[in-house]
Amino acid sequence: MTTLIDPALTAVNGPREGAFGNATHLVCRACGAEGPLGPFYACMECFGPLEVGYAFPEITREQIEAGPRSIWRYAPLLPVPADIATFRSTDPGFTRLVDAGNLAADLGLKRLWVKDDSGNPTHSFKDRVVAVALSAARELGLKVLACPSTGNLANAVAAAAARAGIRSVVLVPENLEKQKILASAVYDTTLIAIEGTYDDVNKLASEIAGEEEGWAFVNVNVRPYYAEGSKTLAYEIAEQLGWRLPDQIVIPVASGSQLTKIDKGIGELIKLGLVEDKPVKIFGAQATGCSPIAQAYRAGQDVVAPVKPNTIAKSLAIGNPADGPYVLDVVRRTGGLIADVDDTVVVENIQRLARTEGIFAETAGGVTIGVTAKLIADGVLDPEAETVVINSGDGLKTLDAVADKVGPKTTIAPSYEAFAEFWKGRRP
Ligand SMILES: Cc1ncc(COP(=O)(O)O)c(C=O)c1O
Repeated sequence: MTTLIDPALTAVNGPREGAFGNATHLVCRACGAEGPLGPFYACMECFGPLEVGYAFPEITREQIEAGPRSIWRYAPLLPVPADIATFRSTDPGFTRLVDAGNLAADLGLKRLWVKDDSGNPTHSFKDRVVAVALSAARELGLKVLACPSTGNLANAVAAAAARAGIRSVVLVPENLEKQKILASAVYDTTLIAIEGTYDDVNKLASEIAGEEEGWAFVNVNVRPYYAEGSKTLAYEIAEQLGWRLPDQIVIPVASGSQLTKIDKGIGELIKLGLVEDKPVKIFGAQATGCSPIAQAYRAGQDVVAPVKPNTIAKSLAIGNPADGPYVLDVVRRTGGLIADVDDTVVVENIQRLARTEGIFAETAGGVTIGVTAKLIADGVLDPEAETVVINSGDGLKTLDAVADKVGPKTTIAPSYEAFAEFWKGRRP
């Protein structure tokens, strides 16, 4: 085993026996070097990003089904202790998989499901990743839960820290949606608005992580553990489909971590024999105003050139995505691709999902449905194939996106006559 870091360092923080469940080591995604579990996120050999490796025992569907109705039913597949469900967390996950027949008919697809992660405790998929990062932070003896965020992660960190009774600090770009700022501040976190884009905020977070001891920046220095939380989306989709995989999945992309970990989760399910082996095409969705990975894909490149974001989809506004090259790998390997749509299409598709399925998505959901519609029109998505799209956040967080488009049809006097006049000719 090549050593990533001095193994003696792990003893400083002294994780307890079984702190990371069946996880056994960290592995570099760039060069494959392996090292011990600890608060490490960059490879000592090549500075590549690290991810968690496991020695999974035999795990059955029945064992999983007997677990709690949260991501903790998949605890044996995560870097968390076996007794994780007894700790105070927001217990995210097990969100509904909506059989979306109306949207399918509207889009011209045969079978479609929406994995609706707006049902999480702070109304986005970020509760999943934060719950796993919080466990790692606790086991590593870190004291402050922190993050740079485009909004949703800030909400999730603030709530998870409040529930666990620990301090939190969240750093956000100053131009975030008001609803997202409020939804972090209410948990009494230390909320700091930073002049600049998410990428500026992220850089500052890395500097603080390097200077201050005892801080767990969930998506910086405990990122390998944090990222594993997104695998639970793959597990839930498979379990909710009756332990089988769909043919194609469309996923919103900012840093790309969610997409790459859904792919990792699918691989694990197959390897463990929990689902039948079959190909699953993975598609990424970005907003045109911040689409560095889609641009690299179209140009046939392996590197992702950073961009300056300019889109209403602020939760996806990461101009320099950490997982960019890995997203390119996944979509190319699985036979998918990554595409983008502009802000007008984003808003139209927020409305389309709401109109057809009664699901109010935030802007990221509008991006995902918009890209799905585009890929069908372009003949890329197979209309006969079973499709899952991810709705990763709640429309109440980005109300301004639709504020000019929807509202009361008319204002009338409070009399039956006035109503009858309005209703004339409108009866179903
Ligand atoms: C609602 C929502 N969807 C998707 C994403 C993209 O996640 P990732 O950075 O893992 O690609 C984010 C990121 O903040 C988000 O807030």
